[in-house]
Amino acid sequence: MNKKVNMISQILVAVFVIATVTGISSCEKNTYTPPTINPVDSVHFEADVQPIFNSICLSCHGAVKAPDLRDGYSYAYLTTHGYVTLPGETSPLYVKLIGTDHSPRTSDIQKQKILIWINQGAHNN
Ligand code: HEC
Repeated sequence: MNKKVNMISQILVAVFVIATVTGISSCEKNTYTPPTINPVDSVHFEADVQPIFNSICLSCHGAVKAPDLRDGYSYAYLTTHGYVTLPGETSPLYVKLIGTDHSPRTSDIQKQKILIWINQGAHNN
């Protein structure tokens, strides 16, 4: 009698251990993999930055009001007039975007794109 109870409890323990182990391993299979961002050139000037200028800045920053943010002129203007410097956090372009004295406001995503683009070396890409 005692032996039988012992065997049943051993089987129960074994079932419990198996369930726990498979439970843990299935958990590991489903662990969250964060999206990977290419650290090099993940933000492109033509595809990501210039469209921001086109949609929000051009109404004021054309040929007359510095900086000239027109497509085809903006990159040369920003990089030769000291608006884009490293680290991006202190570059005049980014500082202007996060300041409160300048309208209209860019979204957080747009600010981030411009900051990342500067910190990636402000390539004409
Ligand atoms: C409603 C008009 C208007 C819009 C839209 C606008 N700006 Fe400006 N911006 C100005 C004016 C006016 C100044 C000069 C006064 C000042 O520095 O705030 C200026 C100044 C700046 C300066 C500093 C220039 C310097 O030589 O010190 C930068 C950089 C700049 N803007 C970038 C941008 C960017 C990038 C956008 C779009 C996200 C933008 N601006 C949208 C009106 C505008």
